[in-house]
Amino acid sequence: MGAKIISGKEIAKEIREELKEEVSRLKEGHGLTPGLVTILVGENPASVSYVTAKQKTAHELGFYSVQDNQPEDISEDALLELIDKYNNDEKIHGILVQLPLPRGVNEERVLNAISPDKDVDGFHPVNVGRMVIGERCFLPCTPHGILEMLIRSGVETSGAEVVVVGRSNIVGKPIANLMLQKREGGNSTVTICHTGTKDLTYHTKRADILIVAAGRPKVITADMVKEGVVVIDVGVNRIGKTPEGKAILCGDVDFDAIKEKASYITPVPGGVGPMTITMLMKNTVQAAKQFAGLD
Ligand code: GUN
Repeated sequence: MGAKIISGKEIAKEIREELKEEVSRLKEGHGLTPGLVTILVGENPASVSYVTAKQKTAHELGFYSVQDNQPEDISEDALLELIDKYNNDEKIHGILVQLPLPRGVNEERVLNAISPDKDVDGFHPVNVGRMVIGERCFLPCTPHGILEMLIRSGVETSGAEVVVVGRSNIVGKPIANLMLQKREGGNSTVTICHTGTKDLTYHTKRADILIVAAGRPKVITADMVKEGVVVIDVGVNRIGKTPEGKAILCGDVDFDAIKEKASYITPVPGGVGPMTITMLMKNTVQAAKQFAGLD
């Protein structure tokens, strides 16, 4: 068989077109311009490239966007003060602090300082709690993007055996939670595997939908999955550089071999990655509408 490729790039483009129109309507009809600040501490090359891509997209969609670069040695108190400033800035509806933060800065304290109403990353405990009990909230961007990809590709999730590999707070735990919620794109039976799992293959072979966010290149091989599986690969591993100095990326699954067995598969790059940024924009539009009492 040959799997259908779920192009995050294409789906993200579709959603961005929808958002662009919505932003125009908000500006013209309500004088409301969604505002996003991205705070980058230090110069980690991967973080610089993610933040640059987020700002570029925000700009393209017509947002008011602010890029706030801070030095690696900023004190935790100064960072908390900065967040407080944006919490009180009426032009800013979404605040994103790019992770990881330098050692010596307590990530938990920083994330908890962001107002839950401006927490477009969906990392604040208030939003995490709301997500778990199925209340309206900001969903974390990568899991939110995975849901949209499954729904827009017509993958049946209700009653499906979903196996998640990885238990991070950013991807594994929230996507597992979303897949079990009783609504569109959910209602699945969910298993979470992690470094303590005794027999990974036993679980991955049972999966109708396999979501891999392990952070290790090609840990899932073709012998670990069944025919017809739907594979969502969240991994972004830098495994070398082209002669021109561009990063060579690969996912957490052996794409070339698994695509012969799977019914659907996401590529790396061009799969989950573009969806993450797009869902950040969607959350920011939602934050702006909620701020203005329009939603
Ligand atoms: N670092 C890696 N992924 C993310 C993300 O989704 N949000 C933030 N803020 N930082 C990240």
